[in-house]
Amino acid sequence: MISPRKTYIIANWKMNFTPGESSLYLQRLSNRIQPSRNVQVILAPSTVSLQPLSLQINRRQFKLAAQNFYWRDYGAFTGETSVSQIRGFVDYAIVGHSERRHIFNESEEDIAQKVAAALRNNITPILCIGETAMEREDGETAAAIYSQLANGLNEVSDRDIDRIIIAYEPVWAISTNKNACPAGITDIEEAQALIRKHISKLYGKEASETIPVLYGGSVNSDTAGGYLSIKGIDGLLVGSASLIADSFCAIVETAKGIKNE
Ligand code: 13P
Repeated sequence: MISPRKTYIIANWKMNFTPGESSLYLQRLSNRIQPSRNVQVILAPSTVSLQPLSLQINRRQFKLAAQNFYWRDYGAFTGETSVSQIRGFVDYAIVGHSERRHIFNESEEDIAQKVAAALRNNITPILCIGETAMEREDGETAAAIYSQLANGLNEVSDRDIDRIIIAYEPVWAISTNKNACPAGITDIEEAQALIRKHISKLYGKEASETIPVLYGGSVNSDTAGGYLSIKGIDGLLVGSASLIADSFCAIVETAKGIKNE
């Protein structure tokens, strides 16, 4: 079960860093980020770096997350990596990232199966959801959020909902490298409320109050504090700013400051 109201800071390195570079970068972060009770720092390197980093990390300091995997446990699936092959290396797995949905045409069915496969292998899924710019302009944000939640959680029972993290990543806000505008804060506050409302309908009030909801999309060290202060936001999924030690460490420090550590 996920401890309620922890703050999660997740570095999604995407398709960056070789295993050697990942190892050196981890070393730099290790020297600067101290273990914390309230702020969980999670690193999501490329699949090829998971095994070496799992031998190198101090798990009190960092946890590892997979960026992707295939949901079958084994078999004739050339080029794929199953979640059971990486289960010894990671505690978390990102599922349904918008780049997987939109660039690799991952279906809602695949995403639901991946969430189920992660849970089956004792890995916490970080289910990413978020509307596109067009859905937003058409006033379909709530519908998009609801349908991605309902589909992604299709295989999740009442018993397992407390093992899930939701990341709200509006597609229009990813990789913009712009600072947040005030409307962004309102959008995010409304979105987390929609997410919790829908979780309440599907799994009850308690689940809706305890499920961690993170924000992701162009977070940097200047904007992290603002996002973390939004009611109902329990952490951040950071892309490009997580590739720069100064920026990422500053984001983690900001989270600790908000938690009064
Ligand atoms: P950026 O922080 O680069 O916008 O990426 C966000 C993201 O996709 C994290 O998963």
